[in-house]
Amino acid sequence: MHKATAYHGALGDFFAEHSDTSPYNAYTDRPAMLRLAGDVSGARILDVGCGAGHYAAELSARGAQVVGIEGSATLLRHARARVNGHAELLLHDLEEPLGFAADASFDGAVCALVYEHIRNRVRLLGELRRILRPDGWLLVSTTHPTADWCHFGGSYFSHDWRDLPLGDGELSIHYQRIPLETFLGELLAAGFVLEQLVEPRPAAGLREIDETAYEKLHQAPSFLAVKLRRP
Ligand SMILES: C[S@@+](CC[C@H](N)C(=O)[O-])C[C@H]1O[C@@H](n2cnc3c(N)ncnc32)[C@H](O)[C@@H]1O
Repeated sequence: MHKATAYHGALGDFFAEHSDTSPYNAYTDRPAMLRLAGDVSGARILDVGCGAGHYAAELSARGAQVVGIEGSATLLRHARARVNGHAELLLHDLEEPLGFAADASFDGAVCALVYEHIRNRVRLLGELRRILRPDGWLLVSTTHPTADWCHFGGSYFSHDWRDLPLGDGELSIHYQRIPLETFLGELLAAGFVLEQLVEPRPAAGLREIDETAYEKLHQAPSFLAVKLRRP
């Protein structure tokens, strides 16, 4: 399994808890992506880098048939507990082809905050295009390039790999800064058609539990989310 980017051991355990309630994942990225997904009842959906299974559980609860793939055995354990048998979950390194999936066998794919971790994105996008049916949809969210630029400094156009400390700073995630031009350019070059782009702001519920985070995330972009179609 991919050692540099998948969230193993203590990092996986930390992320499982963090993604459950954090202003970023629970109140900003996830509500925006689920809104983009729309009505998923009856759809077969691939959850690419399913983490602790929050998307898989929610999409299943909304009537979708979900297959989740994840490179961290730690997170897969959390995901299994969360989906409680309502989604199929597989250990899979996203640097490898999606050999388990037949051509045109999914109606949709969700790739939430995973894209920036992947090195062979051209191959992953080619594989997603292959396994989606014609007119199928792909949702991708990523760290907002402006947020990365504000945080890391240097050139906005840099494509360097960075370590972002999490929690008390003992743990960090490893990902690539991707300028907007590269992010959208790669998705379009893979043959997808852009349908919607959003810069998610936090859901109203955050205001009651963390007003400071609510105000901050309303003023500074944290993520970028797109809905694409496979022609
Ligand atoms: C920020 S988390 C997002 C998880 C989930 N999509 C969510 O939004 O809650 C990034 C996920 O990508 C996974 N990941 C990173 N590189 C991977 C790889 N090469 N193969 C499989 N999974 C990978 C990590 O283990 C982690 O679960």
